Amino acid sequence: MTTKTGMVVGIGRAHAKAILLGEHTVVHGTPAIAFPLPALPVRALARPAEPGTGSQVPADGHFRFTVGGTDTALSGPRVAAEEALRRWGITDTTVEVVVECGIPLARGLGSSAACAGAAVRAVADLHGLVVESGELYDLVQCGEQVAHGRASGIDASAVLANGPIRFHQGRAEPMPIGLDAALVIADTGVPGSTQHAVAGVRRRLDEDPVRAGSLLERASGLIEAAGDELSAGAAESLGKTMLDFQELLAELGVSTPHIDALVTAALGAGAHGAKLTGAGLGGCVLALTEPASAPGVSAALRRAGAVRTWTVPTRAMHAGATPLSATTSEPGTHQ
Ligand code: MEV
Repeated sequence: MTTKTGMVVGIGRAHAKAILLGEHTVVHGTPAIAFPLPALPVRALARPAEPGTGSQVPADGHFRFTVGGTDTALSGPRVAAEEALRRWGITDTTVEVVVECGIPLARGLGSSAACAGAAVRAVADLHGLVVESGELYDLVQCGEQVAHGRASGIDASAVLANGPIRFHQGRAEPMPIGLDAALVIADTGVPGSTQHAVAGVRRRLDEDPVRAGSLLERASGLIEAAGDELSAGAAESLGKTMLDFQELLAELGVSTPHIDALVTAALGAGAHGAKLTGAGLGGCVLALTEPASAPGVSAALRRAGAVRTWTVPTRAMHAGATPLSATTSEPGTHQ
């Protein structure tokens, strides 16, 4: 794109994701199911810059950095875009990337992967390149290793996907959905550290390999059941499966009293099931409900301390069509 001042700018986009089932255990080889949230978007702009320009810390989700110059900030999006330049043999230029992130940071909604994906796409666009999806995934993963420690790849896949996916050992397949329900996502307001949570789960699993084996087997069974329930449209049993997975995540040490209180509030308002989504230790809770009960579940979650909620009808989860209504308990911050 050429701006009004004649400057050439590359543009890249990506979006948030939510994991339905399989967070953490996916790092240890189980499948996981996730869906994109296109209504929480990221846009990145890339343009030529002076080599000495550095990074700026995120403010309101907006931040900037440079690649190909002297900036060495260790952020996932910068590492992914720097690696892109290296792989494409572009060595004689400094590029400034401005990221406008509409995803709340550190809430388990994939902000780091989405910002990396949008940044790489913007740098490619600036150089007139189209990145093939496998290469884009690899580049986002380079950034995710910085952000997560050891990333399974589910975030990198889901923030670039245009429909629900089943992810297993680095491969994502479209996931059929036959469910007419609603998912209510509630933000605890507490930032979680994926790296810290992933390291804690690893320690627990390493402490007792026999228990770890049976826990991961249980997780795989629940994820397979959830896949069948999603395609069969069995909302009640899917809710129960989500609750069983929440119990397993609590055993792994990534739930908190605040998350537990939100799960209880959602169930009390008639949700079929609820669980944390993403890395936990803060972040977001995901509740499954009948569409008609979604406003009540959402209100109950906010009364129990959620700072905002988003509602996603499951039948609209496909390709770029996710309508999402947001409510917040913080006056004046409606999204
Ligand atoms: C984070 O969204 C999901 C985790 O399973 C980490 C990963 O898979 O890389 C906690």
